Amino acid sequence: MNALLTETVRCLDLVLVKGRAFDSEQLAHRLDNSDAPLNQVRFLCYQTLRWYSQLKYLCDLLITKPLKAKDKEIELLLITSLCRLLYSDTPAYAVVSDAVEGVKKSKKPWAAPLINGCLRNFIRQQDKLMRQMEQSPEAKFAHPKWWIEKLRQQWPEQWQAILEANNSRAPMFIRVNRNSIQTDEYQTRLALANTASEKVAGLSACLRLSKPCAATELPGFDLGLCSVQDAGAQFAAELLAPVPGESILDACAAPGGKAAHLLELCANQLELICLDADQQRHQSLTEQLRRLQLTATTLHASALKPEEWWSQRPFDRILLDAPCSGSGVIRRHADIKHLRRPTDLANFAQQQKKLLDSVWPLLKRGGQLLYCTCSIFHEEGESLMNEFLKDSTNAEIIPIETQHWGIKQKLGRYILPTKEGMDGFYYARLKKN
Ligand SMILES: C[S@@+](CC[C@H](N)C(=O)[O-])C[C@H]1O[C@@H](n2cnc3c(N)ncnc32)[C@H](O)[C@@H]1O
Repeated sequence: MNALLTETVRCLDLVLVKGRAFDSEQLAHRLDNSDAPLNQVRFLCYQTLRWYSQLKYLCDLLITKPLKAKDKEIELLLITSLCRLLYSDTPAYAVVSDAVEGVKKSKKPWAAPLINGCLRNFIRQQDKLMRQMEQSPEAKFAHPKWWIEKLRQQWPEQWQAILEANNSRAPMFIRVNRNSIQTDEYQTRLALANTASEKVAGLSACLRLSKPCAATELPGFDLGLCSVQDAGAQFAAELLAPVPGESILDACAAPGGKAAHLLELCANQLELICLDADQQRHQSLTEQLRRLQLTATTLHASALKPEEWWSQRPFDRILLDAPCSGSGVIRRHADIKHLRRPTDLANFAQQQKKLLDSVWPLLKRGGQLLYCTCSIFHEEGESLMNEFLKDSTNAEIIPIETQHWGIKQKLGRYILPTKEGMDGFYYARLKKN
């Protein structure tokens, strides 16, 4: 099989069969050590994961006799080839020949006629099969059934737009490091490098690029002039509104996008403590701060165990960007749709509540805490905040009033993912009485 197909099928197997995240260490290691063209493998994996529910449905229509579990790679090869037929510019004859010739050279040459027959059948009957596929919401919207049902129930007016946005390619946003350069000036540097960009209302350091590129291709990236960060994520630091000299806790900080933004807003003049419980992610946090020439105390520690690291001095402000299902960032992490289970939401909510309960006592009286997640499910957003407030005697909501973005709720504010727009987030701001 050609290197592109072999590697894509192996990576898909790691995600879809073995349950690894697409950005996991194991997958990165696979890709780094492969002879296949890395960007093409990544792109094809991404497209296939994005449309998987639909491609699997079509595959099941085409295969008349189900394949054995040990032949999963044959099914994945067929699914990947259907993805190329539907969502790439590769000519149909080349897609069929790559798959058939590839499988002939593999350990399962018996599957060549099957792959050939299925792909040719698909090409012949594409219109009919696609109409048939439209009957299944799971296939039509390319999301698991429970996901569609949950969105429908929680966002009755927006669910279809959310699903469509989730299947689109996310635009690229950057945050200009205004300690080093002004936004206008950086925009000029981008233009000189042939990249058009536009400002985003309500965010002074944010630019939306007309076309995505590798971070390292951005002017002055290595010198810390900018960072790649979705616009939706850039509201965190603005909402926490740090004042130079304050002591701030970023309780779940890695890889450090929001922590760096807090420091950039205060010319690096904060007593910022950044925690992360994951060793490797903690490492990426320190590297990010170093690149941006920003200073904070970074600790590989758990926000659930303040007794191990807290000096007993209350913080002026706390950012709790809690681990979550990631339901707002599906455009950038298509694997999430297939890795999450409906029961995961209760586990995430429990963890989020524990984190809130654990860091709340560390906030000084009159101080503010910003809670956020990159999820649009209420279990991890508005419902969780409601529960926290029910149990708390000294917490008060500070409403987030703005015309620029998001959907106001009783307590916090959601950003829903939109095509060409921002990722999905939930924000709620609390004050300690
Ligand atoms: C949503 S991410 C944070 C993103 C980060 N704020 C940023 O803007 O780049 C959540 C982080 O919480 C970390 N985490 C999970 N449990 C934790 C705990 N008990 N204490 C501290 N960090 C934790 C995870 O390792 C993960 O890096």
